[in-house]
Amino acid sequence: MPKQILRFPKGFLWGAATAAHQIEGNNTNSDWWAWENSIKRHNQLINQGKNPADFCSGIACDSYNRFDEDFALAEHLGHSATRLSVEWARIQPKEGVFDEKELDHYEKVLQSAKFHGLQTFVTLHHFTNPLWFVQKGGFELAQNVDYFVRYAQKTVERLSEWVDFWITINEPEGFVGGSFLTGVWPPQKRNIFLAFRVAHNLSLAHNLSASKIRFTTGKPVGMAYDIVDLQPSGHLSRLVTKFFYDRFNKFVFYRTVNSCDFIGVNYYFHHHLRFWGKRKYSQSYHQVSDIGTSIHPEGMERVLLHLKKYHKPIYITENGIADAKDEKRKQFIKDHLYYVHRAMGKGADVKGYLYWSLIDNFEWEKGFAPRFGLVEIDREDLLRRRVRYSALKYAEICKNNYLEY
Ligand code: FCB
Repeated sequence: MPKQILRFPKGFLWGAATAAHQIEGNNTNSDWWAWENSIKRHNQLINQGKNPADFCSGIACDSYNRFDEDFALAEHLGHSATRLSVEWARIQPKEGVFDEKELDHYEKVLQSAKFHGLQTFVTLHHFTNPLWFVQKGGFELAQNVDYFVRYAQKTVERLSEWVDFWITINEPEGFVGGSFLTGVWPPQKRNIFLAFRVAHNLSLAHNLSASKIRFTTGKPVGMAYDIVDLQPSGHLSRLVTKFFYDRFNKFVFYRTVNSCDFIGVNYYFHHHLRFWGKRKYSQSYHQVSDIGTSIHPEGMERVLLHLKKYHKPIYITENGIADAKDEKRKQFIKDHLYYVHRAMGKGADVKGYLYWSLIDNFEWEKGFAPRFGLVEIDREDLLRRRVRYSALKYAEICKNNYLEY
């Protein structure tokens, strides 16, 4: 079949995303750091036959120091935007104490992104919390929401000059799921009532801070939601999806979407829900990533079309694959962009695409093994950055502003 040229609108943003704890290194004041280095966690890993050292973020990618090199790479790869997060535990190391040096640091980081011609999406909360905040009960208590709002206000006042888009919280439902339902993330709790309470408090945190951020800075504010393409088959699955799964999975979404100027979509995979018989995965091809997640690009279109009714601009704030050998990434990106383009043709107002991730990094409870990066981090060779082939193919799309498909 002859290839078609699928053009994207002028000004469509292209880039990649990262998060502070996953790339900066030495985020020592955070709950994740404490957990990764705790005896409890080490014993759990040893019992599973794993080496705890592979599951400690440590120096990560040393991007706290090497940020300019990373943004230079993004520029070289034709990106026009970047998504990063600032670390609450650094900016506010103790209750009531804001560290001006760390705010100066993030100012330099953002100036560097601007110097390299990148529009900036900045997330205020990407899974990690300051230790002092967790010790006070974190998001488990409604009265603590105000701590987040004050941190958000201080940070946006100081940094907004260099920020084009603010994102309050990354994947609230994912955060609640990992920390309070499945218990694979700190504080490793499994309690559905608590999970709902935290989800409710995160919604409050977003709603209260979003209006302040908008008022103080005039910049657009959104959230990055983890949106799964859920396809039920059979009556029972449909009922469960409608009355339970969807309600929990989109608990924060439904409570916060109205106070977003844009919707951030993190799309990775789909679930085919079925009570009898085998679960069916992708319709297109039955491939999986290195970490076993199904590859299902069609779901991207369904997710985007479903969001049309909110009449808000949409940015894909994450979409990516763990693929150490770089065998599937090129096609993964192209296939997902094909469905983004199709959804746009049907009226979805998508304005940008940020691949996860610019560089290989610390993938939470899975440690350093999953390789999501457009750029490889060679952990045996001083964290050297090596551009992958797929990154060059994605760069062509970014520079051309079209996809050959
Ligand atoms: C998302 C997270 C991001 C990264 C990717 C692989 O759920 O937001 O930090 O871990 O998954």
